[in-house]
Parts: sequence; structure tokens; C-alpha cells
Amino acid sequence: MRKVKRLQMNVVNPTTLSEPFLKWAGGKRWLVRGYSHLFPMEFERYIEPFLGSGAVFFHLLPLQSILADKNAELIAAYRVIRRYPDEVAKLLESYHGRHSCRFYYDIRDADLESEIEQAARFVYLNRVCWNGLYRVNLKGKFNVPIGTKTQVKFQTGFLRQVSTHLKHAKLMTSDFETVIDGARCNDFVYVDPPYTVSHNNNGFIKYNGVLFSWADQLRLANAVKRAVARGALVFVSNADHAPVKKLYRELPFYRKLGRASILAGDSGARRQTSEAAFLSYQPTLEDEL
Ligand SMILES: C[S@@+](CC[C@H](N)C(=O)[O-])C[C@H]1O[C@@H](n2cnc3c(N)ncnc32)[C@H](O)[C@@H]1O
Repeated sequence: MRKVKRLQMNVVNPTTLSEPFLKWAGGKRWLVRGYSHLFPMEFERYIEPFLGSGAVFFHLLPLQSILADKNAELIAAYRVIRRYPDEVAKLLESYHGRHSCRFYYDIRDADLESEIEQAARFVYLNRVCWNGLYRVNLKGKFNVPIGTKTQVKFQTGFLRQVSTHLKHAKLMTSDFETVIDGARCNDFVYVDPPYTVSHNNNGFIKYNGVLFSWADQLRLANAVKRAVARGALVFVSNADHAPVKKLYRELPFYRKLGRASILAGDSGARRQTSEAAFLSYQPTLEDEL
């Protein structure tokens, strides 16, 4: 087993409380709550090629990071919040007061020129649309109906804090392969793709407006193998299914991660499900638990 060089701890301040500003399908708040001991203690750069709400990034608060996603609107919102947190917060404050069914559909369908308004709308829709879903029609227009949540604004200063955390991050709209191919020895790559299983007949699912096929899962597993061969520390989250396990059989550490999930359509009912983690490195903190 390759030994990891002693590197500087890549954490800004472990006592800083931080969390995502979005709610995202497949978001990993549950992972950081229950399984953060599986992350490496030391690494050089942090790389997250399937960013979504960035639950792991906001947990680790790494000093140097590359954050990417194929969803261009999502990455644009991150960039604008980093640059104009107060302006976005102010608009959300005003949307909070104006929130209604009519306002929701008016703003959802409006043509907005300013990037600040577009980013504030992105966050507004994420907070009050049905189940925090992101879905676009064939013309690329967001088309999720209104949901039941009504909390639009954040606590004072929250977006400014998000902006500070993002200060040194490189944000990219990109397909995962280029991003993973840029990972070097001792970089930590957290890989959280849309979950596709090979037997779901047509071979692809539409996820957050982006198609992710079984061929993409194969392409991803190969990119991961190349990164591991270069000495990157890789953590892959994926479905706990036999065909997926086969894809990652060369990664030496497999963990089955149990979690309670809410059953769709019945917010009171919970069931136990499991997901898989495939790691290229031995999780050092695990033994101490
Ligand atoms: C499971 S979500 C990531 C969730 C994230 N870990 C979190 O905590 O919110 C998967 C993400 O992959 C993005 N995605 C889908 N296809 C992609 C591709 N080919 N390249 C890069 N990102 C892609 C989606 O837009 C989505 O944000």
C-alpha cells in the first residue's frame, strides 16, 4: 500500500460551522454527518467534479479546491454569490416578503438580464420549488412547480460566509472527465455522480437536467482508475449494487453506508437504505471510533 506523505492539514478552521446554501437531489449532508471519518486527514488540493450543493466541500472547507459541475446555471450561481453575497442576500430578503404562488411563476418564467438577479432567482427557486428539484424543459427553462416551503431568506451574514469559503476555489462548468484527469498525486477527489444502474433498461436517467448513462458510469470508473494510478486519494459514492461494485473492484476499500431516507410521498415514513463508498486509501480515523 502506498504511504501518504505528511502534508499540511488542508482545513481552514475545523470549528467554523458551514453548510450548503442549496438543497440538492443526492446531496450528501447525511454523509458528512455520519461518515466524515472516512475522509482523508491530509491532502493537497480538494477536487469535487460533481459539485451539486457541495456538502462535502462545505464540511471540509479545504484551503485549495477545484469545484465543478456540468450544470452551468449552478456554477454561475456559485460565482455570483462569491462575488456579490450581499446583493444576492438583499434580493432574497425582498423575495421572502413577496413570495406567493403568483410571484413564484412570474419570476420562474421571467427573462432576467442581470447575473445577480439570475443567481438570486436560482436560490429562490431551489428553496421554495417542489422538493428542491432542478429540472429543465427541452428549451433549457426551469419547469418545476411551486412546493410547500416558504423560507426564502437566509440568516444575516450566511451568504457572506459562503462567499468567504469560496474565495480560493476554482469553479468550473465542466464534464467530470477533464476535471478528474487533472487530479495529481495526494489530491483528494470526492466523486459523487448521479446514480445509474446498468439494468435500468434504457441505460440512462435524466438527472438535474443532465443525462447520465451507464456508458458515463464506465467512463467515470476509468477516469477514477487513472487518477488512483497517479496517486490521487479518491472517494467514490455510488449505488450499492453488484454492477457498480464490479466497476470499482480495484479500489481496495469498500464500505456499505446505511442511512435513513424519507419515503417519497410520505414525509413521516422512514426506511433504512444503503449506499456504497469505494476508497483508494485506508481511512485513518476509522480505527479510532
Ligand atoms: C449526486 S449530485 C452531487 C451531489 C453533491 N455531492 C451534494 O452534496 O449536493 C450529482 C451532480 O452531478 C452533476 N452532473 C451530472 N452529469 C455530469 C457530468 N457528466 N459531469 C459533471 N457533472 C455532472 C449534476 O448536475 C449533479 O449536480
